[in-house]
Amino acid sequence: MKVLALVGSPRKNGNTDLLVEKALDGARSRGHRVEKLYLYDHRILPCIDCRKCKRGDFSCGLADEMEAIFPALAKADAIIFATPVYWYGPTAKMKLLIDRLRPFIASRGLQGKLGLLVVPSEEGPACCGPLMQMFEMSFQYLGMNLAGYVLATAYERGEIRDRPEELERAYAMGASIPVSSSNV
Ligand SMILES: Cc1cc2nc3c(=O)[nH]c(=O)nc-3n(C[C@H](O)[C@H](O)[C@H](O)COP(=O)(O)O)c2cc1C
Repeated sequence: MKVLALVGSPRKNGNTDLLVEKALDGARSRGHRVEKLYLYDHRILPCIDCRKCKRGDFSCGLADEMEAIFPALAKADAIIFATPVYWYGPTAKMKLLIDRLRPFIASRGLQGKLGLLVVPSEEGPACCGPLMQMFEMSFQYLGMNLAGYVLATAYERGEIRDRPEELERAYAMGASIPVSSSNV
């Protein structure tokens, strides 16, 4: 399977990034091919509801670096959405990405793919309800299947290194991505 991880934290080597690396190590251990994209390295414009993606070839009318991310999403079998909690939701950059998934409603291009979540926060799992619900409902709308999540507790940059059990859970989540004979 192809596993795509979208890192929605601005901090490279931060908690989200370290958890994602562990999840990808777990995925690699099962023979999956992995790719990691840092959303903050890409210019992503906000969806302007032009509705172009509802017609014709269902392509987005905006010209930006989503042009590289759309094909990566379409090719992936499993997509890890990784974001720290910012005000009980995802980061603004991750939200920009989510809004831009709209072409995949009409094209059904994400249907049947696996969605996984990696979410560190200061307060931990107790504060993740709204964010989880947003992702669960969005996956449902896109026809994706929630296949795993790690809600971790960490605040300072890299603090997650002091919590090996959280890193282990991320690894286990990556290793739990099923091996499908058609895609390996
Ligand atoms: C703007 C902002 C808002 C935040 N909001 C929350 C929040 O609502 N709840 C929480 O528990 N942590 C919150 N945090 C803390 C981050 O989720 C936490 O530091 C996380 O570990 C950062 O992950 P990173 O190192 O991958 O960037 C916030 C941090 C920032 C910068």
